[in-house]
Amino acid sequence: MTSPRTTNLSLVDTDPAELAVDAIVIGVHSQTGEQGATSGLAGTLLLASGAESIAAAFDGKLTETLALLGATGGPGEVIKLATLGTVTAPLVTAVGLGPEPSGAAPAPETLRRAAGAAIRALAGAPRVALALPLPDDADASAELRAVAEGALLGGYRFAGYKTRPQPTRREPVAEVLIAVPDAGDAGAQAEVARAQAVAGAVRLSRDWVNTAPNELRPPSFADAVASAAREAGLGVEVLDEAALAAGGYGGIVAVGQGSEAPPRLVKLTYTPQGGGNGKRVALVGKGITFDTGGISIKPAQGMWEMKSDMAGAAAVGAAMLAIAALKPTVAVSAYLPMAENMPSGTSYRPGDVITMFNGKRVEVLNTDAEGRMILGDAMARACADGTDYLFETSTLTGGQVISLGKRMAGVMGTPQLCDRVKVAGDAVGEPAWPMPLPDDVRKGMESDVADISQVNAGMDRAGHMLQGGVFLREFVTDDVAWAHIDIAGPGYHSGEPTGYWTKGGTGVPVRTLVQLVEDVATNG
Ligand code: BES
Ligand code: MN
Ligand code: ZN
Repeated sequence: MTSPRTTNLSLVDTDPAELAVDAIVIGVHSQTGEQGATSGLAGTLLLASGAESIAAAFDGKLTETLALLGATGGPGEVIKLATLGTVTAPLVTAVGLGPEPSGAAPAPETLRRAAGAAIRALAGAPRVALALPLPDDADASAELRAVAEGALLGGYRFAGYKTRPQPTRREPVAEVLIAVPDAGDAGAQAEVARAQAVAGAVRLSRDWVNTAPNELRPPSFADAVASAAREAGLGVEVLDEAALAAGGYGGIVAVGQGSEAPPRLVKLTYTPQGGGNGKRVALVGKGITFDTGGISIKPAQGMWEMKSDMAGAAAVGAAMLAIAALKPTVAVSAYLPMAENMPSGTSYRPGDVITMFNGKRVEVLNTDAEGRMILGDAMARACADGTDYLFETSTLTGGQVISLGKRMAGVMGTPQLCDRVKVAGDAVGEPAWPMPLPDDVRKGMESDVADISQVNAGMDRAGHMLQGGVFLREFVTDDVAWAHIDIAGPGYHSGEPTGYWTKGGTGVPVRTLVQLVEDVATNG
């Protein structure tokens, strides 16, 4: 269920031309405008800083040779060149960084994607050094962090289930060295340690998402999260189906009752040493281990991707492990409701009225809107335990993908907190966009018989993502600032690998959640 190994990461400050590695990665910029057009093939390409000693070893012919091989410096482009003894490494790999930035170094996300693309392309090479452009000043933290994360995430591969070794499949890079001005610098070392904790969490959440849904059902998912959390020193509480029924978790019980694999609610607690800053954060993640739609069954085509419907819970659980390692000065509790949404003789049905954990009654209209049922309970429980901020994340609606696409999450909730999520997402390269909670969308969810309908009673798909947010608001108490992060698009990558994204689970929004917790620890 877990990847075969981790990627080792360390810093070096010796001359990249003399490093005994299998490949050395340098950056190249594309050059536009007059200069590029008039100075021949090589004129379209510009070496990024960090590549100086490599370029010197090639007698000034490096740019020209890379251009001959087709390099343009476009983002994500990877061109490999045999060094034939000019430098110690047998291979130089040029990764495109796009146009040269006006500032000192490319944006962190550009570096993160470039490092990821290079490490992915170098699968088969055991040891790789990255000599990418980093600002010279000591405060190069964001850029160094980005390179380290990109390398660790580009080096991820799901172990998979093949019974025979694959002769054409190259092993992911095992060891990455990052060239920096001062490898002994404490700040730089701290960034590497942080990147290892965070990228390790992202990789684990990818593993959980990529695990086949027959292998990861609510009881086994709960066990996997609980044992990893115990090992990390977190507090763990697991509610099984009997405890959920006794505790009044009507939504989790209803969704889970159609499956022979019973539902769970996992609560993880991180208690800061010395009491923290007095603030409390709650994280909630949707853990539908497989979403068939239930009685309102989904079409067959693409249904297999619904093994990723626990990406929110995977991100929250994994983020808690990173938090346990990073030790921020704020109390954090996590709630992971888990269920398998199946059609059967015991399934909940359209027309059912369910009493939720906070006492509100919900009229079910579509059993495929199951996420909000389990999340409503978990969010109400988080509020009952007491919290100042509540961040919830889920693969909640196809409407999110329609409106914002595959890379940009949708955020709904308390406006100031939504803005904070956007800022955190931008900082870590997991973009998210604030969306409204319109009154007329709530009006469309009035039920004839219960307090609220689970979806628009007319089965109107208009504002589908917003219906999810409006519904979840019913389960948050007024004293809690909250944000719902819909990751239906960015949680799972079904296209070809790109940058540091491999196929399958992406680990979004692990890095945003960690950033938000650190933000609350620092700024309250
Ligand atoms: N898990 C799905 C949402 C989803 C769709 C995630 C595509 C990732 C990719 C969710 O449970 C669902 O089925 N949503 C329905 C809700 C509808 C029936 C009210 C949807 O969005 O169509
Ligand atoms: Mn569904
Ligand atoms: Zn779902």
